[in-house]
Amino acid sequence: MSVGVAAEVKSKLSVVEVVGETVALKKAGTTYKGLCPFHGEKTPSFTVSPSRQSYHCFGCGAHGDAIRFLMENQGLPFMDAVRDLAQRAGVTVPEGDAGPEELARAAEQREKRQTLTDVLARAGEHYKAALKSTPRAVDYLKRRGLTGEIAARFGLGYAPAGWRSLAGVFARYDDPLLAEAGLVIVQGESDEQKRYDRFRDRIMFPIRSVRGEIIGFGGRVIDEGEPKYLNSPETPLFVKGRELYGLYEARSALREAGYALVVEGYMDVVALAQAGLGQAVATLGTACTAEHVAKLFRFTDHVVFSFDGDTAGRRAAGRALEAALPHASDLRSVRFLFLPAEHDPDTFVREHGAAAFEQQVAAAVPLSRMLLQTAQDGCDLALPEGRARMLAQARPMVDLLPAGALRQQVMAEVARCGGTSSEQLAALWQPASPPRAGKPAQAGSTPTRRTALARNAATLLDRAVWLLLQRCDLWERIGADDHERMAAQAAPYGSFFALLDRCVHDQGALSRSGLVDWLRQAASGDAELAALLDRSAALHDLDDGVDALDDLRRVLLRLQLEQVNSERSLLVGAGQLAGDELVRFNELGRRHSELSAALTGSDPQPGQRPAGRL
Ligand code: GTP
Ligand code: MN
Repeated sequence: MSVGVAAEVKSKLSVVEVVGETVALKKAGTTYKGLCPFHGEKTPSFTVSPSRQSYHCFGCGAHGDAIRFLMENQGLPFMDAVRDLAQRAGVTVPEGDAGPEELARAAEQREKRQTLTDVLARAGEHYKAALKSTPRAVDYLKRRGLTGEIAARFGLGYAPAGWRSLAGVFARYDDPLLAEAGLVIVQGESDEQKRYDRFRDRIMFPIRSVRGEIIGFGGRVIDEGEPKYLNSPETPLFVKGRELYGLYEARSALREAGYALVVEGYMDVVALAQAGLGQAVATLGTACTAEHVAKLFRFTDHVVFSFDGDTAGRRAAGRALEAALPHASDLRSVRFLFLPAEHDPDTFVREHGAAAFEQQVAAAVPLSRMLLQTAQDGCDLALPEGRARMLAQARPMVDLLPAGALRQQVMAEVARCGGTSSEQLAALWQPASPPRAGKPAQAGSTPTRRTALARNAATLLDRAVWLLLQRCDLWERIGADDHERMAAQAAPYGSFFALLDRCVHDQGALSRSGLVDWLRQAASGDAELAALLDRSAALHDLDDGVDALDDLRRVLLRLQLEQVNSERSLLVGAGQLAGDELVRFNELGRRHSELSAALTGSDPQPGQRPAGRL
């Protein structure tokens, strides 16, 4: 894509118009003012200047043009933001020097997103209409204390009881798109396929993207039944580790309240909104990821996690803590609220009211205290052994905190609690974190930047191998592009991924040991590959509760980033750039920012790094 298109797009669309779609703007002299969408504020410090075609927030420093705004506000990569704007401005986007196949694939992917969105929107309309004509479903929602107004705000619906109610909505019930959107389940082989609606006789909660488009559904049985909730499967539009239920609906309440409340259930979000606490969002039946937290911090600086007071809630809180640590910078706050054991937010707010809930929020435990409590788990601080254990448990968490005053403060607390001084603790924890596992540079050679890059790539590849050996099912969850990229890696990694691909196809999901055996057999004669298998198999297991898919995706992104970096440094090393080289260099720069944006501050977490030398 040429820079020309971005410029053309910007010249045709006003930044005021683009920003104005999501932020209420008021004219103030020659500029416009509004509440900043990037941090919580009650008085407007966000200005948009038509003459400079840029926005600037005096509160948080957010700054940029229309493209930047879309990237930041909707989490789009650069190219997608430009395309989005180009579409509105009626500008055609040339695809640069991508080959015709790549071009066709990109176009196909975009179209698929669009058609999936349409399909989901139509299903959503159907479910909404069905709710209106089903008194049993309406009664259920009323019994749970919801008004029609709240049901409408969340677009709640009802999936009728029949096996093929969607056949009345779509011209072709066997359209593969319906299955791909997760609305229709296909069973059996090609000649004798059976198709039926995934969601039947359920209250439907549409899950919307930040842009307000339906990307999936959660469906709850009316009254009792198993499973209680059914969710859409992941699709190209819907990645559970990334989406938050209710975020779209919560946007203005987030600003007004000044914080986000993260709860566990759909009903909790809706019931809290009913009670006037519209700032609640929920993870989608999965653990909270660092990506979730990063997303929330785009909308507010203060996040309060609410957990049920039972043991499951405590465990979930531990994972949320881990996800939040990398984002806990000095100007943000993260707190944890534990409801009485018999309650979830829905029952609590209905029994005690919004004011009582807000009191709970006010009394929520700050992240620093949560970290200390977690570190003390199972430690008798009266004994040196207990204090040493506490320090060991604290370290991986402290390592996740960004450098800054908060981290220093937490270190001081940890030291005090462990019966030592900050200085002693800092000395004990030197170097701050163990070097990222990787082959040590060969003795005698000065490590140049390029060998450092190659070493990083090897470390990432080792991590991918380690993850996939334990969870080979994840191979099918990443894209065909990634399959190709991985199989093209240098020996022995490339052959590992190529074999894995064959194995997953031929054998289905094997256990870790079954997989290693199969691969050893298949790799016989390839000493390098056998050595890779040996050292990976000897590493410890994945911890419970690690979102391995999320981890793998990030490793893949980082790998691409390493490759972009290494190509860039090769180009730079070649001296003065001109012509094609310069074009390529610029292209790599754009790719670099896209990849970095996709990674937004969510590195693989050191606490979960495979131990031992790789
Ligand atoms: P209500 O019983 O309607 O109040 O639901 P809840 O939101 O309180 O549900 P609960 O606390 O039991 O579960 C929290 C979240 O976990 C739900 O909102 C779902 O996202 C998810 N969940 C709960 N039960 C199931 C289930 O049976 N299957 C799946 N896939 N997810 C579930
Ligand atoms: Mn509940």
